Amino acid sequence: MFKIAEEKNLVAIVEAAVEKHGAHADAFIPILLEINHEFGYIPGEAIRLARKKLHDLHGKSPEDHILVSEGQLYGLASFYHMLHTEKTGRHMVQFCESAPCHVQGGRELWKSIQQTLNLKAGETDSEGRFTLKTVSCLGVCGVGPVVLIDDDLYGNVAPEQLADILAKYE
Ligand code: FES
Repeated sequence: MFKIAEEKNLVAIVEAAVEKHGAHADAFIPILLEINHEFGYIPGEAIRLARKKLHDLHGKSPEDHILVSEGQLYGLASFYHMLHTEKTGRHMVQFCESAPCHVQGGRELWKSIQQTLNLKAGETDSEGRFTLKTVSCLGVCGVGPVVLIDDDLYGNVAPEQLADILAKYE
């Protein structure tokens, strides 16, 4: 489950993440992951603050030396499936849509997930409980079809198991 931080903590959380990982290119993803974990997504304001803090820590003014631009940080946040740039539900349901899972019952499971949640890929329910996403191979094709809910991986999932699995997440 994502730990939803209060908006007022945004500055403190972003600054702590940058100080923890440092102001260098290898730290960008860990910093973004940490922010994403705290909020469930990466608010635009967090990207702006992270860039400022990175440059402050790097000891150069953003105008003098471009360590990283807001656009580059946003690009990273948009590229990696484990990072989210839009507000998400309390729980992220990620369904593997790659071929090996698809042929092991994934097609039927995907239909059931959409019907059960009444969501399509990319949507969040009105109560903010679940966000549904598709992802590429999660690296556990031997137990397909596979669903990842937050940090919990479920393999060999049959449609009739869905209700019990989803009931664990409030
Ligand atoms: S294809 Fe689904 S985990 Fe690899």
